[in-house]
Amino acid sequence: MAHKKLFIPGPTEVLPDILEAMSMPMIGHRSKDYAALQAELIPKVQKCLYTKNQIILSTSSSTGLMEGAVRNFANKKVLACMCGAFSDRWAKIAKANGKEVIELKVDWGKAIKPEMVDKALSENKGEIDLVLLVMNETSTGLMNPVKEIKQVVDKYEDVIMAVDAVSAMMAVPIYTDEWGLDFVLAGVQKAWSLPPGLAVGTISEKALERAKTVENRGYYFDFLEFVKRSVEKNQTPCTPVISLIGALNVVCDRILNEEGLDNRWARHERQAKMVRDWALSRGFEMFPEEGYWSVSLSCIKNTRGISVADLNTELGKRGKMISNGYGKMKEETFRIAHMGDIYEKDLEELLADIDDIIGT
Ligand SMILES: Cc1ncc(COP(=O)(O)O)c(C=O)c1O
Repeated sequence: MAHKKLFIPGPTEVLPDILEAMSMPMIGHRSKDYAALQAELIPKVQKCLYTKNQIILSTSSSTGLMEGAVRNFANKKVLACMCGAFSDRWAKIAKANGKEVIELKVDWGKAIKPEMVDKALSENKGEIDLVLLVMNETSTGLMNPVKEIKQVVDKYEDVIMAVDAVSAMMAVPIYTDEWGLDFVLAGVQKAWSLPPGLAVGTISEKALERAKTVENRGYYFDFLEFVKRSVEKNQTPCTPVISLIGALNVVCDRILNEEGLDNRWARHERQAKMVRDWALSRGFEMFPEEGYWSVSLSCIKNTRGISVADLNTELGKRGKMISNGYGKMKEETFRIAHMGDIYEKDLEELLADIDDIIGT
């Protein structure tokens, strides 16, 4: 199968040396070798996420931890901040788990603003104890102001906030402790640039205390079990995806020791600007509200009326792949991801190819 370089918002491109790292000889998940691996890895993940909080290594896609959040943290009603397909999905997950959901809904492409969350919490004072927020709406290429929203949530003592940082984590800094984030989750198939199958979460003391009060947390995603096993034994509750955990350790080394966090954030900002500048100079518009454009992927409004499907077919012949719009926006928008192990040189080549196919 000829490989197409992935400019889609996940799974993202995985470099050959990382794929190689995944072919390590297998070890037992209750062995000393595994415990040593997890013990070595956790502080690196904490460093990447600016936190001293416990880390959850979940053998699942991100959706598993989204479900885990509603099961572990909600005793009362859940406020779901909805601005696109994935935040809509989180509301659905909460309902599917029997939670009563209050929907804070804006049009796709619009951001959730702190004052909206403030209003919803004050109108339902004492009734809500969990806020669900997607940091980067992958369906619309929009980044919500997480830090500012958390400041508002903090006015309400018993409310905690869970953040889906699936397509934000490792593309932009998430200052978990400084911002006081209770729970942050992401799958590794986005800006970590690993194959899918592992999700990473950070969980605060406050969130752990909440989980202790919640009944029916379920079994597979019982966060108290994850933390207990990790603290006591450097293990996970069930058999984890050891090869991905080994590869995550290698990726962390590269990010921390070779690229450096600050360089990584700056590179992602440059890459985002490069794609936005290209789009705007070619007669396209950005889909999301100005001021909230995602740093990890650009969702571009198809104002030129090109055939996104044909463009992707042509790009495929050149060994590249971008993404059409999400769901109902399939041909109305297209998305170019610029996160993880996609670099400026890759984007230069991609954009030149697009110019060549559709004309400038
Ligand atoms: C923002 C966001 N949340 C959740 C998900 C669901 O992730 P997964 O498919 O890993 O469960 C995605 C997937 O693209 C996403 O972009």
